[in-house]
Formats: sequence, structure tokens, C-alpha cells
Amino acid sequence: MKRKFKPITLVFFILILPGCKSMRSTSQSFDYKNNITNPITLDHENEITDLISKLTLEEKVGMLHGNSKFATEGVKRLGIPELTMTDGPLGIREEISRDTWKPRGCTDDFATFYPAGGAIAATWNPDMAYAFGKSIGSEARDRNKDVLLAPAFNIIRTPLGGRTYEYFTEDPFLNKKLAVPYVIGVQENDVSACIKHYAVNNQETNRGTVDVIVDERTLREVYLPAFHDAVVEGKASSIMGAYNKFRGDYLNENKYLLKDILKDQWNFKGVVISDWNAVHSTAKSLKSGLDIEMGTEVNFENYYFAQPLIDAVKNNEVAESEVDESVRRVLRLMYTIKSIDPTSRKPGSRNTAAHLADAYNIAAEAVVLLKNEKQLLPLNLKGIKKLGVIGANSTRKYSLGGYGAGVKTKTEITPLEALKEKIPSHIQIIYAEGYKEKYLNNDEVKQNLGKKTVNQLDQSLLAEAKMVAKESDVVLIFAGSNRDFESEAADRADLELPFGQVELIKAVKEVNPKTIAVLIAGAPYDLNEINSNISTLVWSWFNGSEGGNALADVLLGNVNPSGKLPWTMPKKIEDSPAHATNSFPGTDKVEYKEGILVGYRWFDAKRIEPLYPFGYGLSYTTFNVRNIQVDKKKNYKATDTLQVSMDVQNTGVKSGKEVIQLYLSKADSKIERSVKELKGFKKVFVKANSSRRININIPIKEFAYYNVCKSDWDVESGEYIIHVGNSSRNMFQKVSVTVD
Ligand code: BGC
Repeated sequence: MKRKFKPITLVFFILILPGCKSMRSTSQSFDYKNNITNPITLDHENEITDLISKLTLEEKVGMLHGNSKFATEGVKRLGIPELTMTDGPLGIREEISRDTWKPRGCTDDFATFYPAGGAIAATWNPDMAYAFGKSIGSEARDRNKDVLLAPAFNIIRTPLGGRTYEYFTEDPFLNKKLAVPYVIGVQENDVSACIKHYAVNNQETNRGTVDVIVDERTLREVYLPAFHDAVVEGKASSIMGAYNKFRGDYLNENKYLLKDILKDQWNFKGVVISDWNAVHSTAKSLKSGLDIEMGTEVNFENYYFAQPLIDAVKNNEVAESEVDESVRRVLRLMYTIKSIDPTSRKPGSRNTAAHLADAYNIAAEAVVLLKNEKQLLPLNLKGIKKLGVIGANSTRKYSLGGYGAGVKTKTEITPLEALKEKIPSHIQIIYAEGYKEKYLNNDEVKQNLGKKTVNQLDQSLLAEAKMVAKESDVVLIFAGSNRDFESEAADRADLELPFGQVELIKAVKEVNPKTIAVLIAGAPYDLNEINSNISTLVWSWFNGSEGGNALADVLLGNVNPSGKLPWTMPKKIEDSPAHATNSFPGTDKVEYKEGILVGYRWFDAKRIEPLYPFGYGLSYTTFNVRNIQVDKKKNYKATDTLQVSMDVQNTGVKSGKEVIQLYLSKADSKIERSVKELKGFKKVFVKANSSRRININIPIKEFAYYNVCKSDWDVESGEYIIHVGNSSRNMFQKVSVTVD
């Protein structure tokens, strides 16, 4: 009976809910900068000076460290509230106890579970990043949080990174184009977006001690752009200092990154908040630019920014005016988000149908179709009496796990639930678990060089799966990983798909050639064998409350897939730059030896064929690009914006969205350059059998490289080629332009 209602739900999603409108529109349809409603305000400096003059040293210091796990002290007598914070990137974390990590046991702290960072990036759609920020920010506000500890967008340097699923991409341009609208969306709710983890925090192994060595040009061109733009364009009002060291100094006492670059060069007026328990000194940290220390494990007076800071002022190690500077920043933040005078503060909302629609839209645009050789997708239900659904990932939930990134949610639709709901009742769905998630104990993990899982199949589950495969007309096998296997605080040991799933997929395919593999994971895996065995491969993510619905709609063809990989899927780990250069994970030091050649730039430069390239993803239709034009071919100046126009043709019978990607190359450069670099993209909806003319703008300043001799950006003159493609390895056409 239930199933009959589904089409109505779908219509409801597509036509009524505001978040869904963007499903039909061309992306990047408005300028987010017009939406910046609350850059950090400097309108109250006199009131702030007056307030500071009334504060005792103890009160000031109370505002600069946690008085509990997720708040700093207020000053009641002067009307200064606590500053409340919350994780995290995938949804507002449940309330935990004030003094320990134990859940507080509340019954009103449920939240929408949003798709993970990899999924946002796979949409290649800034509109989706904006919708995400706006939606999650409203949930933070509704839970009365001042600072949302998100977005997290460290560059994916290694496919093995434990937080790859939380972060966006390997590419600095895509990264910044998503980070900015996300931040703007969050901050529209009178909530601060605390962008993290600043900076070069690209691995979990030894993250609390490792000293990252990276050359200046790479730092500026690869690891800082998203932080720069989130601060300068998105007006992020807080930023989290990471755990690691950079060039010898811990991040939270790193004058170069905090004071010189962030506060002086980027003119950041907001608050620097330490990662949890990531501070190592008092005077040095404060003088280097840290404002708030968070996360001490035991007694809150043990913070470096608690009694030791009071002592440091009394011993003249720190001037009280230096404390005042940090207090000023905290007060500025409070005026900006209106927590100091909440009468005009925006209300939030949580767990609403509109927020679920946002989660659905993002999830639906994130699913990547990797392979569809025999056109098994979208599922042709006419020919199916029995549909086999195999694999524990079809019934698994992904909201919990991964420390601060866990979400306590009321709604999470699994793929199997969604399929049951959406498939007509005359089709029988037969399910087999296929594999069990089994983990080694700590000693065994050590003996196995960090490998965490048991990768042998249970023979009775395998036999059951084969039976189901035999009986079914088509088999969907749901594999991949989960939030226990991919997690903060540990990188993966290798690319192997855990729990014996490769063997399972091969065995199932042998019984039933019409086997479709659906991988749900947050990071690259070794898919070589699966890829050579299976004709149809779909990639999904830890994709939020509506992840199952979105995935089922793609499989059934209600949604035409438009996700693109935000990172390179290598054939083997040794092909990836950090591993090819033997510079991961280091011990007390890690030197980023690949320099600017991160991600696809390395694969291009070394002519290595990836399994699936950056920017790749198929659709149920096909696209072509024709008639590429630039507004002028010659005489561009560094201050100009280049406009590239083209016809995007949908050459198939199904309407859909394509991501047009512009890559820049320069043949005769006097400096080392990547073979090509992403410099523009646009997600475009084109109706079946029709064509649409679009423009993509690239400011010429995007052509610049960081000139270390001048300590500034430089645009080389001469000829540049712009390649127009729909992945980093599939170009339609190119056009050349000349810069004076
Ligand atoms: C993580 C942060 C998180 C913080 C608070 C740290 O371990 O690195 O991303 O916001 O904990 O939970």
C-alpha cells in the first residue's frame, strides 16, 4: 500500500519545497557575495572598547578558553553571553556533557544528517554548497549554537586520509568555489562558520605532532586558497587552528600562518579557535595569533589560556593589551552573530521537510555513475520480476561514527528501505547480507601494519548471496565502507576494500552477469578487479538522511546522475603523488615532496593512467560542446575577466545536468606548471535533444602563480590554452588566449 504514495512524495520534493527548485535550474545562477549578510562587523568598536575597560583580567581570560567541552565563559554582570560551539560538518552533533565526551542524554537534540564533504564536492555545484550551509546553519541556530565547527575542507593529499570523506577535494579551485558559498550560507543564520583545519592538516597519522614541510609556492597555490577565499570573500568569522606543526611550530602558535598571513595579509578580524586540545603554550600562542583555546581533557583551569595566562600577564610575559585584542575579537563575533543582543537575531529551524529536501537535493546530485557499459541502468523494471539486493551497505546507516562528525538523527533512509518504497509491489526484492563487518582488535591491528578489518567472507553468507543472485533477474550489490572504517584520528593502511567484498562481488557476478555494483564510501578504494569484472558501477557517499532515497532515484532513473569525482581514483596507491614520492606519512616530519603536483596534476605530469580521473562521472544521456568562443582572443590584462561561451548539447533522449570544466595550460611557461589546472566550471541543465548556450567567466588573476621571489602573485604574459571538458581526461575542444 505504502508504495503507491511515492510518486506524490516525489512531486512534493520537486515542485513544492524551495530547496528543490535548484534541481531544475542552471547552477551558479546568482552571486553569493550579494548574500553576505554578516561579515564580521566593525560597527561596535567603541562599545567593545568600553566593555573591555570594565572587564577584570579573570573575566577576560574566562572568555578565551573553554568553561566546558563546547563553550567559553560569559560575563553575566555585563550582559556578555557564553560563546557556544558545535560540531560539525555532517549535521549538528548531539549534546554532550559539559565536562566529558559522554552524550548528555537529551531527547531534543536530533538533527538532519547532511551528505558528507565528499558528496558536496561531487555535486560540483556551488548552489548545493550554499544550500548546505544555509540549511545546517539554521539547525545550529535552532540548537542555540553560536559557532558551527564547519566546513572542513583540507586538501585531499592522500587517498588514505581518514577524513577524506569529511573534506571536499584534491583541487584548490573546486575547493574554494564550494567553501565560499557554504560559509555564506551558514553565516546568513547569525551563526559563525568556523572553517577548519587551518592549515596543512592533510593526514591523521601523527596529526598531533607531525611537522609539515611544504614549499611556499605550494602552500599558497594548493593548501591556502580555500581558506583565503572563505575569509576574504566568504567573510568567515572564525577559523580553527589545526593539530599539526608547520615549519617547526604548532599551528596554534604559528605566527607565520596565524598572524602574518591570516590576520595581517588577509585582514581577518574574526576569532582563531584552537582544535580540541591542540595548544602547547601560553604566551607564544597568544602572541602568535590564537584567540580561544578549546578542548582540554580534564580540569578547565589547566588550559594554557586559563590560570597560566593570568600568571603570564602578572609576570609581564604577556601585555594585558594582547589579551584585550583577543577579547575584542570575541566580542566582535558576538556583535556580528547578535548573540550579545539577541532581540534581532534570526531564529533557526531543525529537522524540517525543507532541510530534508536540501539533504535530498545535495545527495541526488552527488551520486556518480562510473560505468554503465551494458545500459543496465536506469533499471528497466519491465524486465524484472525478482530484484536481488545484496550487501550489508544496503541496510547500513552512516550518520554515526567519526568522533565529532557523528549526527544523532531521526531520519535516515537506507537504500533497501528506499527501494522497497519506490519499486512496484509486483517486483519481489530478495535480500542477502553478503558480508559481515568484522574488525581486528588493537593488537592484531598493530601486527597487521594498521589494517583494521577481517577481509575473509563468511562462507554461509557467500552461499546465501549466490543463491539470491541466481534467483534474481538483476542484482544490486551494495558494497564500500562505513563511518567506523573511515574515521578521524587514523588513516587507512591501504586501498583494499574491507570485509572480503571484492571476492563477494566477483562471486555474485559469476552467478548473475546482470550485477550492478553500488559503492558507498567516502574515499578512493582499489576497484581494479571489480572494474574489470563488472559492467555497471555506481558511486555514492555517506550521503545524509535522504541518501537511500537519492540513490534509489538514480538507480530507477527518477534522477539522472550528475555527480563527478572530486578526486582521482588511482589504480594503485603508489601512483598517488604523496606515495610515489615516498612522503607519506613521515614520522615527526612530513615533507610534501610532490609540491604543486597534487592529485590529477601529478597523474598528468607523470603520464599515469588513473582508474577514474578527477572530474569524471557519466549520465544517462550524453553531452557535447560546440562553438566555443572567448570574448576576445588577445590583449587580456591581469585585471580582466575572460568570458568563455559555448553551446552545451544534450545529444540523448533524457534531460540531465553536465559539469563543464575549464582547464588552463601554458606550454612555454618559465616556471614549473601543471599540465593543466581547473580554473572554471559550471553545472548546466540541458533538456533532452536540445542545446543551451552558456558562459563561464575566468578572472585573469586566476592564471597567476605565486612568485616566491616577489612574495606575490604573478600573471605570466603570453599564450594560454583553455581546454573545455567534462572530466580532467575528456576534453571536447580547446581555445587559446593571449595575456599581455
Ligand atoms: C576535530 C575537530 C572537531 C573537534 C571537536 C577534533 O578532534 O579535529 O574537527 O571540531 O575535535 O569535536
